[in-house]
Amino acid sequence: MTLARLAYASNHSGLAAGVLEDILHVSLSNNKRDGITGALIVCEEDFFQILEGERTAVSACITRIMNDPRHQKINIIFAGDVQTNLFPAWSMHSVERDVMLRYMVNGDFNPAHISEGEIVSLCLEMALTN
Ligand SMILES: Cc1cc2nc3c(=O)[nH]c(=O)nc-3n(C[C@H](O)[C@H](O)[C@H](O)COP(=O)(O)O)c2cc1C
Repeated sequence: MTLARLAYASNHSGLAAGVLEDILHVSLSNNKRDGITGALIVCEEDFFQILEGERTAVSACITRIMNDPRHQKINIIFAGDVQTNLFPAWSMHSVERDVMLRYMVNGDFNPAHISEGEIVSLCLEMALTN
């Protein structure tokens, strides 16, 4: 199997009640089925998600996610093959927003304004939370 990791950020314009629960519910179920692990941070206006798994499974998953009207302006930040899985125990780890604070400017997470090194440390910080 070829293990791949993909990270993206996107915008949402406020989440109606129950939407996050719906997203996590379908994510846990599908990701378990597809052998995908990862983590999701939800901020006031942004999502940041990491997906890991067999390359074709990750590709199918991000295709579904990109067609989802519950978010817009999806920016793929990282996509590539990796040797190790950062979230082996999590079909979808919901990470507290606080982890993101140091990577935000004026309360906004803008992937264009953070370096590759910062993305790596954000992913590692997410992996260390539980
Ligand atoms: C921010 C966000 C993250 C999501 N993450 C996942 C995910 O990790 N896995 C997944 O299968 N669907 C995820 N979804 C839901 C997909 O967009 C899509 O609704 C779902 O995969 C459809 O599954 P179904 O064909 O089984 O109904 C996410 C949606 C959003 C808005």
